[in-house]
Amino acid sequence: MARTREKLTLLVAAVAVGLLLAGGAGAGVASAACGREGRRRVHLRLYMHDVIGGPNRTAIRLIWGVGPPHASMPGRTFGDTVAIDDLVTDGPGVGADSRPVGRAQGTYMLSSQHEEVIVVSITVVLTAGPYNGSTLVVAGRDRIYDQTRELAVVGGTGGLRGASGYVLWTTAKVWSEVHMVLELDVHASVPLPDEDDDDNDVLVLGSRDA
Ligand SMILES: *[C@@H]1O[C@H](CO)[C@@H](O)[C@H](O)[C@H]1NC(C)=O
Ligand SMILES: *[C@@H]1O[C@H](CO)[C@@H](O)[C@H](O)[C@H]1NC(C)=O
Repeated sequence: MARTREKLTLLVAAVAVGLLLAGGAGAGVASAACGREGRRRVHLRLYMHDVIGGPNRTAIRLIWGVGPPHASMPGRTFGDTVAIDDLVTDGPGVGADSRPVGRAQGTYMLSSQHEEVIVVSITVVLTAGPYNGSTLVVAGRDRIYDQTRELAVVGGTGGLRGASGYVLWTTAKVWSEVHMVLELDVHASVPLPDEDDDDNDVLVLGSRDA
């Protein structure tokens, strides 16, 4: 209880200091920290191998043929949904021509009744390089016959915590009827580490002593 009161006091103090800074000479510092300068840019070029058949397939049909026939995609129905656990590499090649750098896990769904549009929802976990162990959350609309599609980077974890930005999404290579490689050209930024990133001056809800 005493600890909660202490936290609350600190929170009030922090707000007061914040208001003082905003009104005074500190305003520039405060806005810089919240603006573009407070972020670090991240540029990644990743290749996602979508294998929809054969012994090494990484995509399975979750919902298929349940909805009404699709207006422009014969044999497909509105709502068809695929779960993926695709290999992510540093190049579009297969085998020794590219190195594994992660997995793309999630779903895509045929989400337009009339157009060739899927909605993608994936998390890319990186397993090599400076962001090994970090994840990137990507979501958006993919009009599959457009040359370049733009999806959103909606978040991340680890070294990519707080990531935001966009992904230029293109079909890089079609190796076979069942093996397609997508290029994910990721343009994002992450907040710079906050030196005061602890919970001391924040009211923590749900903690044991709250
Ligand atoms: C499946 O993967 C194995 C092991 O990587 C590989 O030897 C084989 O050629 C692959 N098969 C196909 C059809 O790609
Ligand atoms: C990525 O991190 C894991 C866990 O820390 C480690 O086992 C692995 O060797 C790392 N991979 C690379 C390519 O650095």
